[in-house]
Amino acid sequence: MKLIIINGPNLNLLGKREPEVYGNQTFEDYFSFLTSKFPEIELEYFQSNIEGELIDKIQEVGFSYDGIILNAAAYTHTSVGIGDAIKAIETPVIEVHISNTFSREEFRHQSYISPVAKGVVLGFGLQSYEMAIQSFLN
Ligand code: DQA
Repeated sequence: MKLIIINGPNLNLLGKREPEVYGNQTFEDYFSFLTSKFPEIELEYFQSNIEGELIDKIQEVGFSYDGIILNAAAYTHTSVGIGDAIKAIETPVIEVHISNTFSREEFRHQSYISPVAKGVVLGFGLQSYEMAIQSFLN
């Protein structure tokens, strides 16, 4: 089982960025917890602040990996390109958000990912990623 977590813009600042919304933990720390929690899964991690790099990565893994766990961050709400990339590939994508985007500003209620995702997990903090991984094991 080969899965990749792809994180979009500003998620490299987890731990420092708006801790009241996103928590105190860095993603690197959380990722090492995930790799020890799921030793049976080949788990990769990629982060970029650049929309085209996210699309390149989705295309690169999208015909061979078993799953993509995608937090496209702000691009969730704006990127037709990322939505189209997900439509173009074969690997299922689970959309993830740390915060409950529906309890926040109106512009965060729109997602170009949800209509083309296999499922959506949001609002459980970093645990949202773990739940998304779990969904591939059931
Ligand atoms: C986010 C929610 C987005 O609205 C925001 O732009 C982010 C993070 C989340 O994980 O809660 O950067 O995707």
